[in-house]
Amino acid sequence: MEISVFGTGYVGLVAGACLSDLGNTVTCVDIDEKKIEALNRGNVPIYEPGLEELVKKNHAEKRLFFTTNSVEAIQNSRIIFIAVGTPQDEAGRAELKYVIQVAQTIAKNANSPKIIVDKSTVPIGTAKKVQDLVRSITSHEIDVVSNPEFLREGTAVRDFLEPDRVVIGAYNEKSADTIGLLYKPLGKEILFTSPESAEMIKYASNAFLATKISFINEIANLCEKTGADVCEVAMGMGLDPRIGKQFLNAGAGYGGSCFPKDVAALQRIAQDHDLEMKIVHATQQVNAGQKIVPVEKLRREFASLAGKKIVVLGLAFKPNTDDMREASSVEIIRALSKEGARICAIDPIAEENAKKILAGTKGLEFEKDPYKAAKNADAIILATEWNEFLELDFARIGKEMKSKILVDARNVYDKKTLMGLGFKHQGIGR
Ligand code: UGA
Repeated sequence: MEISVFGTGYVGLVAGACLSDLGNTVTCVDIDEKKIEALNRGNVPIYEPGLEELVKKNHAEKRLFFTTNSVEAIQNSRIIFIAVGTPQDEAGRAELKYVIQVAQTIAKNANSPKIIVDKSTVPIGTAKKVQDLVRSITSHEIDVVSNPEFLREGTAVRDFLEPDRVVIGAYNEKSADTIGLLYKPLGKEILFTSPESAEMIKYASNAFLATKISFINEIANLCEKTGADVCEVAMGMGLDPRIGKQFLNAGAGYGGSCFPKDVAALQRIAQDHDLEMKIVHATQQVNAGQKIVPVEKLRREFASLAGKKIVVLGLAFKPNTDDMREASSVEIIRALSKEGARICAIDPIAEENAKKILAGTKGLEFEKDPYKAAKNADAIILATEWNEFLELDFARIGKEMKSKILVDARNVYDKKTLMGLGFKHQGIGR
């Protein structure tokens, strides 16, 4: 099928590359000329395992194209995905400006019947809004379908090609079936719903997962007071299939471009309907506090953090991505800096993005080699559990440090081994 995808961020680029890999002809459209030029040269602007290979392969085999020419892309496609950003506005709502702009462009330039597929995360009711808008502009038959994306950064390509679920929310069977055909090669069951339900499934899923994390983090904090170990507790809870094992890892809170934004947006949507999302609100509050728990642990270790050298291992909001949005490391580093600490930060991939976000932070320097960073350090905080940090030689690290204090904010190290090496190991909830 002839498809175009508007927006070449995580969602758009992954969807475009994967849909072309499934045999469709896909044109990815973006207004950013530099980005399109780079993509045409095979340079993928984001770090996402497997994506560059997929882009290069399908581009070379002439199934995947990149352009700034939206009119041509629209006129050559039967199906048009909208995957542009919906950033959070000042009131916490998802900003629909870019979605609306693309919908208007499609309607103004449509030359035949089209299906607009909304992949951006948008407030419930947006499909209807877009449908009404395009129909007010053009007499060509244009259907709007909601097809939320559930991919995770770092495993986005795999998540797209091997999804747990495909949700298609459509107003009529014809457009639902056409979009369903795109996903048929994946061999997964497709859930057909109304567009409103599809839009809600996306928000409810993210808010639920975020709630699961905040819940286990609250339990972790109570474990510390009561002598229980949250890792054992999570394992015990997770054995009940009604609860499930996943997303019960206590730590320094959740970050990223999705959970924080969607948790805020869902509350706004509720407020706009005179409702209060009490659980979701609590999820957000717990998460804000959780991000600086590692710093609180260090405060208890030292009379003052002023002048102390603290190594922060891992900056990205999670491993295998260069994304720094809402990363816990940012809050940790800011809190340390405020107290006059010297911070030595390391990340295998996210350093450049971190430098932008943390520009001007007092006492912050970056290092590439963890062993050099450890020299004369007073403590280490593991903020992001990159594989590189799991395999460190802590006997060697310990020899470099002034005091062997390790705050394991993702509960990834073996406490006994580290204690055997003379470390004071502090996990979260253990
Ligand atoms: C999340 C969802 O998992 C995807 O299903 C969804 O499609 C995506 O948002 C989106 O809306 O686009 P993502 O933000 O890439 O994906 O990352 P996750 O793997 O979900 O992790 C989010 C955060 O939660 C990370 O900071 C991670 O460290 C934290 N987390 C995760 C925990 O603290 N504990 C856990 O047990 C799991």
